[in-house]
Amino acid sequence: MTTQFIGKENFTIHTQTVTESCPSNIALIKYWGKYADQIPANPSISYTLNHCKTNTSMEFIANEPFSVQTLLSGNEEVKFAEKIEKYFRNIEQYLPWILKGRYIIRTENTFPHSSGIASSASGFGAIAKCLMKLDETFTGEISKEESLRKASFLSRLGSGSACRSLYNGLIVWGETDEVEGSSDLFAVPYPETEIHEIFKNFNDWVLLIHEGQKSVSSTVGHGLMNTNPYAERRFQEARENFVPMKEVLKSGDMERFIKLVEHEALTLHAMMMMSDPAFILMKTGTLEVINKIWDFRRETGLPLFFTLDAGANVHLLFPGNDSEDQIKAFIEAELLQHTQKNGVVKDVMRF
Ligand code: PMV
Repeated sequence: MTTQFIGKENFTIHTQTVTESCPSNIALIKYWGKYADQIPANPSISYTLNHCKTNTSMEFIANEPFSVQTLLSGNEEVKFAEKIEKYFRNIEQYLPWILKGRYIIRTENTFPHSSGIASSASGFGAIAKCLMKLDETFTGEISKEESLRKASFLSRLGSGSACRSLYNGLIVWGETDEVEGSSDLFAVPYPETEIHEIFKNFNDWVLLIHEGQKSVSSTVGHGLMNTNPYAERRFQEARENFVPMKEVLKSGDMERFIKLVEHEALTLHAMMMMSDPAFILMKTGTLEVINKIWDFRRETGLPLFFTLDAGANVHLLFPGNDSEDQIKAFIEAELLQHTQKNGVVKDVMRF
């Protein structure tokens, strides 16, 4: 199944530094639950963010014993280095030169670490892009399309949702009959001609409700789906949700879109509440913000809505059109007070 990505045995390595940048993404239909080798239990679709990025420089020192050193914003991160070392060993068949040298990886995020914005997605995306740059210098160039696809494939093996960060726009990962060419192994862009204009300019403002350590890591969270009695039904529902999602993306039906996206977020959290052990990932502020959003929508009819990842912070979504100024004013006046330190990360999704 993965033979198309097996690496070339003929290579010439040399010491080299490459730099790459990769954005984070936010899922609309969520990936939560997986099988061996990072195969998702259901397809997912996400928006790639425009501002929240990881910038990475990778120094490869050829023909020295394999080791990895990582620096996050200049500070040495031993745990992260161990993770990357394990990851590199794991992908050797796809990049046969990968263990033939020493690495110094310098990385920095353009967004606060504590924000709960998926730094593993942008982080592994940037690392996979650096690896593909090295691969092409050592084994010969391939087409941009092939290179991106392999980077998406490789980043998935680091962090599942990372594979969607390699492309801009609306991105699908996981096989579904609703999206031609979709795969469990890598992500593909959702066809632009099938997307209504309203979805091509969207805001994502992330309210930092809680800036501490996440109460459940995504590894633990995915794992809990293995014993959750509702998991199969959830996977099935996510698959089914691609049908209305496809219709809505084409028609621009904002009301249905909002219902679908909020339902997906609440379902992810409900699954965690029904796990053993149970986790409640929302904080008081999360609930207050959600209720205020619902009141605001009832009163004004304006398209402000939310999604959540596996944490307390709220991603506020709203289109970049005539209504955005009124929505922004409401957020500043009513919602910011529920954050820990007036923390908000303002991003856009434009393509
Ligand atoms: O890529 P992971 O293993 O960190 O999983 C991320 C899962 C969610 O962010 C909660 C949902 C998603 O589809 O991105």
